[in-house]
Amino acid sequence: MKERLYITTPIYYVNAPPHIGHAYSTLVADVQNRFRKLKGQETFFLTGTDEHGDKIVQAAKKRGVAPREYVNEISAEFRATWPLLGIEYDRFIRTTDQDHMATVRAVLGKIYKNGEIIFREYEGLYCLGCERFYMERELVDGKCPDHGTEPVKTKEENYFFLMSRYQDWLVDHIRKNPDFITPERYRNEILSFLREPLEDLCISRPASRLTWGIPLPFDKKFVTYVWFDALINYLSGLGYPSDENFSKFWPFAEHVIAKDILKPHAIYWPIMLNAMGLPPFRHLHVHGYWQIKEQKMSKSLGNVIRPKDLVAAFGMDATRYCLIREMAFGLDASFSEDAIRTRINADLANDLGNLVSRSLTMISKYNDGRVPRPSVASGAGSQLKKAVLELVPQFEADVDAFEIHKALKKAWETMNIANKVIDTTAPWELAKDPLQREGLEDVLYTLLESIRIISILIYPVIPASAVKIQTALGLDPKTSLRLNQARKWGMLQPGTKTVRIPSLFPRIDAKKIDATGKDTERRRTVSSGPQNLEENTGDQIDIDLFKKVELKIAEITGAENIPKADRLLKLTVRCPEERTIVAGIAEHFRPEGLIGRKVIIVANLKPTKLKGVTSEGMLLVAKDEKGLHLTAISDQDVTPGAKIS
Ligand code: ME8
Repeated sequence: MKERLYITTPIYYVNAPPHIGHAYSTLVADVQNRFRKLKGQETFFLTGTDEHGDKIVQAAKKRGVAPREYVNEISAEFRATWPLLGIEYDRFIRTTDQDHMATVRAVLGKIYKNGEIIFREYEGLYCLGCERFYMERELVDGKCPDHGTEPVKTKEENYFFLMSRYQDWLVDHIRKNPDFITPERYRNEILSFLREPLEDLCISRPASRLTWGIPLPFDKKFVTYVWFDALINYLSGLGYPSDENFSKFWPFAEHVIAKDILKPHAIYWPIMLNAMGLPPFRHLHVHGYWQIKEQKMSKSLGNVIRPKDLVAAFGMDATRYCLIREMAFGLDASFSEDAIRTRINADLANDLGNLVSRSLTMISKYNDGRVPRPSVASGAGSQLKKAVLELVPQFEADVDAFEIHKALKKAWETMNIANKVIDTTAPWELAKDPLQREGLEDVLYTLLESIRIISILIYPVIPASAVKIQTALGLDPKTSLRLNQARKWGMLQPGTKTVRIPSLFPRIDAKKIDATGKDTERRRTVSSGPQNLEENTGDQIDIDLFKKVELKIAEITGAENIPKADRLLKLTVRCPEERTIVAGIAEHFRPEGLIGRKVIIVANLKPTKLKGVTSEGMLLVAKDEKGLHLTAISDQDVTPGAKIS
């Protein structure tokens, strides 16, 4: 069967509006969906909202509105948020949709008929606040962890799904399919949980206590509770059982979730599917939590970050890139505005933005804005070509393994090679010499092809920018954005008119997003070294005073972040002796992009200690409205240590 993709996110509870945790899962699904489309596969992307149950009734009560009014409002907020992030799904499902409710009832009826659901009395510890039963081991000092009250021993009759029958089958399935649950830590967690006998799953609540749910088809006095309603969305979203989308896409089902709902997805759901006579989903992809300063995001702590505020402050593509790049899939990540700013300034404005704008500017200046003739790439150009062609399969393998953060890291390393090729080959020098014409065209062609290929790869993460780049290269994104075109070198046709584009990503100054979504700006003077860059006073100075300043060429041989100093980088430079310079440029440059650059330093500043590191000089940078630029020297012949006079 032809490879396809059916990708889903959790359906989110509508007890609060979306935050970056919801945005992350939905973005991961969107990136995967776009990547598979790049490969030419047919895909179906489902997301939506989970709208029944106690939690929702309570949230509506708090607001003083009826549950239906409340769920309509919050569900609409989710729907309004996703386009802001460029998320393009095929269906937004709501558990209050008529077709979903009919599917849930049909499934329950079938499983009940098969004898998989029984009615029995249950006695347990019931928390009135949570309106749910607790197991002894879930309590803290015998009290409900949320309400701090002792639960009441309560007897209640309910319906139970006989899950324990399927325990051996499930263990066997997980063992035989190592990539059924990934990353591996979560698979191990489930296998270890399955060493103990499974309890049967309570699937109902008496309608006398909870009316906001789907009535059981075989007993009107009860409604379904939580998981039988929620998980079935993955089937009703495809029009199960009769819609052709179901037969077409179900065999390719992949679910994206965070670790909080691992158990229902890794245990209840495959067992439910098996009981229905359906094959299990293909893969369950589990990610960690976004935290704020090591703490959970929560309304009461007032630290919830809303995706729409991020988009308003940083733009759609930058938000997408940062969220995907900053979290290693599977592990928890700490959200920080500083990290976002650094990513935008260093990765997007500097590495990618400059590569594209410098290349297109050079094409415009030295080749009349047209794609030059390719020749056999040689020297630095051939290394770049090799790196780009090697990147493509590695990038694909990482994305397929849901390690998109790794794929991006590799793409950016390749961009840094391209940026260095510009510095080392200095096309502006080649342009001066008619005998070097072929060499010039060769470098420029290699740069454009590299940009073309890289922009295809990163399209799923920053779609709007990738489309801009492809258009600037004179391509039609409708046909040029294909993964198989990234595998081929030499697709750009000589003579094609290119277009210069304004900077793709403006640099971001210190901006603060607060929880209320206001974008309060607190501009800081950015320090380029131990001292702040003072505004020029306009005073004239004596030549003798200037002569006292010793300016030298230095080559950066090492660069690293300094712990607990967000703005500082520790640079090792050669000039020609080795020195350490602490520079306040961490928000603008990534350490790895600096290595090998030749820069200007003030060499005779008195050493000073910054965050425990002794700085023996000062790096000079240029500052304009776009931010900081290295005063990098393009003449590679200049020897580190050369004096500037
Ligand atoms: O559990 N970090 O809904 P929910 C990362 N309705 N992701 C996070 C996150 C965080 N801090 N917080 C939430 C439900 N998420 C059920 C699901 S599915 C059939 C039913 C994301 O609103 C993550 O995807 O509590 C997590 O699994 C989901 O939101 C939980 O959303």
